[in-house]
Parts: sequence; C-alpha cells; structure tokens
Amino acid sequence: MFNWYREYQLSHNTVYARDDPRVATPLRRERRNAVNASSQQSSENSFATRSLGAIAASLPGSTALFRRYKLDFCCGGNVTLSKAAAVKGLSCAALEAELEAIAAASFVRPQPQATDDLIDLIETRYHTVHRHELPELIRLARRVEAVHKDHAAAPIGLANLLEQILAELESHMQKEELILFPAMRQDAGPMIAGPVSVMIAEHDGHGAYLRELEELTSGFEIPEGACNTWRALYGGGRKFADDLVEHIHTENNILFPRFLI
Ligand SMILES: [Fe+2]
Ligand SMILES: [Fe+2]
Repeated sequence: MFNWYREYQLSHNTVYARDDPRVATPLRRERRNAVNASSQQSSENSFATRSLGAIAASLPGSTALFRRYKLDFCCGGNVTLSKAAAVKGLSCAALEAELEAIAAASFVRPQPQATDDLIDLIETRYHTVHRHELPELIRLARRVEAVHKDHAAAPIGLANLLEQILAELESHMQKEELILFPAMRQDAGPMIAGPVSVMIAEHDGHGAYLRELEELTSGFEIPEGACNTWRALYGGGRKFADDLVEHIHTENNILFPRFLI
C-alpha cells in the first residue's frame, strides 16, 4: 500500500531544503501524471458501459452527481450508467460530460513558475476541491457508520473526524486566501515570514489529522464485503488524503520558501 503519510513526512521535513534528494517531487509528479493519464484515458473510454458502483469507487465526486440525479450507486450499483440513465429518462451523454468534468477537475496540471499562477493553482486545485469533496465524504461516512455499525471494521467516528478536518481546513484556507496570498501577490516583503510560520505550524496539525484518518480506516483498505458507499467513501478519502499531502507539499516546499530567503 502506498504510504501517503510517509510521503507527507518526507516532504514536510524538508521545508527549507528544496535541493534535498528526499524531496522526490519529479518522481511523485511523474507517478501522479502516469496515474492521471491512465485514469483520464479510461474515463475517455466511456463511462456509459461502466457500472455506477465502479464509477463511484474510482471517481471521487461522482457520488454527489449520482445523488443529485437520484441514481442508486449503492444497492443498485451493478447497473451500467447507460441503463440507469435510460430507466430514469436522463441523457447518458450529458451525464458522461459531467463525469468527464469531474475527472478533469482532479487532473494535476504542470506546476507554474510564476508566484501568482502558483497561488491560483493552489486555490483552484486544492482549496476548491477540498471544499467540494469533504462535505460529500462526511455524508458518506455518516451513512456507512449508521448502516454498518455492527461491522468489525466500521470506521466509527470518521464523520466527526472529517467534520473537524473541514472546520480546521476552512479556517486555515481563509487565512491564506484573505491575508497571506494577497500579501504574497503584492510581494509585501519580510512581514510575510510571520504568517508563513503560522501556516507551517498549522500544517503540522493537518499531518496529525492525516495520521488519525489512516488509523481509523486502516489506511483506507476496503474490507471484505464492503458496499459501494463504503468503497466510494474510502476511494474518496484516500484521494483527499493524497490531495492534502500534495497541497501541503506545494505550499511548504515550493511557494513558502520564495518568501523566506
Ligand atoms: Fe492552502
Ligand atoms: Fe496551507
């Protein structure tokens, strides 16, 4: 299993050493791009012939779309998208277009060099995506905890933990968006170092949350006989954890050092 928290620790511990060989950013980017290229290719191969359950498990964000159109991806998850759309009188092509948009939003773009562009990327690729995905993960966790409360592997307490993370992240991202990033865009000088230190300290707290998430879900390992909702929850949870690691890495190791020299 890929240990994303270990990756986080390696990147986080090298905040001031961008040349440190342990910061394997080109490798990570290469691996991530390969994964994204293959998932983009598979999504282009058509969602229509894939089951709702399979799509929900592999594409975080799709469950919110399915709920919106009342497409049952859990108990009725074995039905293909085209068949489910036909039963509901929906346009399969339109649903596929929306799923493609969700997949495209998750795609990691090459990192820009200009600070303004890098901040834009952080806000759109990480802040917006966390805000979009976490509420859905909380809903999925509540459902799994309620329906499977007697299952030995049920992640009891996960919804509450995710709510704490969302509240903490929201407060943190607002500080960046309202105070730190505008100061960086104006290149406000040495006064930026103080707020940067505060943000780095808060990232340590996010690392502790990642550890709790890993412990509570056994590293998002899907248990035997898990339903599609549980699979979607753990697929989405793993993706969120990967995103948060990448997010913190981008700030700690790429953006912030530009203002600490
Ligand atoms: Fe951020
Ligand atoms: Fe941050």
